[in-house]
Amino acid sequence: MPSFDRIDSAGPVDVPPPRVLIADDQADVLEALRLLLKGEGYQLESARTPLAILDALEHREFDAVLMDLNYARDTTSGREGLDLLSRIRAADATLPVVVMTAWGSVELAVEAMRRGARDFIQKPWENARLLTILRTQTDLARAIRRGQQLEAENRALRPQAGPPMIAESPAMQPVLQLVARVGPSDANVLITGENGTGKGTVAQALHAVSGRAGRPLVTVNAGGLSEGIFESELFGHVKGAFTDAKVDRVGRFELADGGTLFLDEIANVPPNLQAKLLRVVETGEFERVGSSRTRRVAVRILSATNASLTDEVGSGRFRQDLLFRLNTIEILLPPLRDRREDIPALAAHFLRQHVRRYRKALHGFDSGAMQALLSHPWPGNIRELDHAVERAVLMAQDTVVRAPELGLRPDRDPSPRIEDMSLEEVEGFLVRKAMARFDGNVSQAAKALGLSRSALYRRLQRFGS
Ligand SMILES: Nc1ncnc2c1ncn2[C@@H]1O[C@H](COP(=O)(O)OP(=O)(O)OP(=O)(O)O)[C@@H](O)[C@H]1O
Ligand SMILES: [Mg+2]
Repeated sequence: MPSFDRIDSAGPVDVPPPRVLIADDQADVLEALRLLLKGEGYQLESARTPLAILDALEHREFDAVLMDLNYARDTTSGREGLDLLSRIRAADATLPVVVMTAWGSVELAVEAMRRGARDFIQKPWENARLLTILRTQTDLARAIRRGQQLEAENRALRPQAGPPMIAESPAMQPVLQLVARVGPSDANVLITGENGTGKGTVAQALHAVSGRAGRPLVTVNAGGLSEGIFESELFGHVKGAFTDAKVDRVGRFELADGGTLFLDEIANVPPNLQAKLLRVVETGEFERVGSSRTRRVAVRILSATNASLTDEVGSGRFRQDLLFRLNTIEILLPPLRDRREDIPALAAHFLRQHVRRYRKALHGFDSGAMQALLSHPWPGNIRELDHAVERAVLMAQDTVVRAPELGLRPDRDPSPRIEDMSLEEVEGFLVRKAMARFDGNVSQAAKALGLSRSALYRRLQRFGS
C-alpha cells in the first residue's frame, strides 16, 4: 500500500516512495524495468504508447519519467519520442525525464538532452548506472518541489513553537488530557467552544505535540471568503483557470502536505465545497482549480467552530458525512466563566506580554482590579481578558493596575440592584422581564404582572419595549 494513503493512521510522518512512470512499447523491457525498480522501493506505473504516457501525466503526479525514444510507428529516427519529450517538458518543466535510446544512437541522446531530457541511458542498460541516474533525478525533483513549497510556506506560515497554555482549573483538565493523548496521533480533531476560548491555541498545541511539529501548520479561515476564492485558497489553481489566474498557485492543502491543516470556522464552508472537502479528507486527493490532474497529500485535519455542527447538520447546512470525518475526536473548550481559577495566571501572562510590548513599569494588579477580573462574566472569554489587560497597561498611571483602568463594563445581563433604581425604572425593568419570559406574549405577561392587557400596552409604549 502506498505510504501516503494514510490520512487517518497514527505514527510519524514518512516520505512516500518516489513515483516513476516507465514507458516503452516492448512488454519485456517494461517487465525487466519493473523487476529492477520495484526492489528499490519505487512506485511504478507503465505506459506502452505516447498517448498513454500523456494521459498518465495529465492525471497523476510523478517524480520522474523513464521513457524509450522509439515507438512502433517510427522505430528508427526517434522523432515521435522527441516530440513527446518536448510536449512533456512544455506541460511540466520540473518533471525530470530520462530517455532510453538504442545502443549507438548517441546523436539522438544528445538531441534529447538539448530538448530538456535530464539524462539518457543506452540499451541494453547497466543496472547500477540506471539506478544511480534515477535516484539522482527523483531526489533532485523532490528537492526542487520542496523548495517551491518552502518558498510559498514562508509567505503563509506562522511560527512553529507550541503556544503558552495556561490551564490549571479543573474544567481544563479534560482538555489537557485530550491534547496529550490525541495530539501525537494523526486523528482529525474538531475543537469547539465560544468565541475567544482558545480554539486556535489548542490547534497549535495539538500540532506542536505531534510528529508533524517540524512540518507546517497551515490555517484556513472559512469565514469571510467568497466561495470562488475559497476553493482556490484550499486547492490552488492553474494559470488561466479564471480571469485573474495569471500564474499557477499552490493551495493550502499542498502547503500543509506532511503537516497539519487547521480549518477555522468550519461551519462556514459552503455546501458545494463541503463535498470537495469530504473527498480530500477521505482520500487525500484533489485537483487544483482548472486542472484535471489529481494530486495527493498526507495532511492531518484540525477544525474549529463556535457553532453547533450537530444543529447545522440537523438544518441541512452541514454534511453529516463530513462532520463524521472531522470529529474523530472532539475537544470542547469551557467558557472562561467556568474556569475562573485560571483568571489570575492568564491576567499575569497577558500583563507580562503587554508590559514588554509597551515598555511600561507595571508589576501586577491591586486587589480591586483582581476582584473585578474575577467577577466579570467575560462573554468574550480569554480574548476579552487579553484586551482588558492591554487597555489597562496603556492606561495605568502607577506601578500596579487599578480596577477602573481595566475598563470593564458592568454586567450586561440586565439584573441591576433594585435598591439602586427609581420606582419608574423598576416598573420598566419588570415589564421587560415579563415580556422576555413569555416570548412577547402580551396576554400572558399582563397576567403574570397582575395588569390588564391595555394597561400593559400603555406601559410598553411608555418604556419603549
Ligand atoms: N490556555 C491559554 N493560555 C494562555 N493564553 C491563551 C490560552 N487560550 C487562549 N489564549 C490566548 O487567548 C486569545 C484567544 O485565543 P484563541 O484565538 O485561540 O481563541 P479562539 O477560540 O480561536 O477565538 P475565536 O473564536 O475568536 O477564533 C489568544 O490571544 C490566545 O493566545
Ligand atoms: Mg480562532
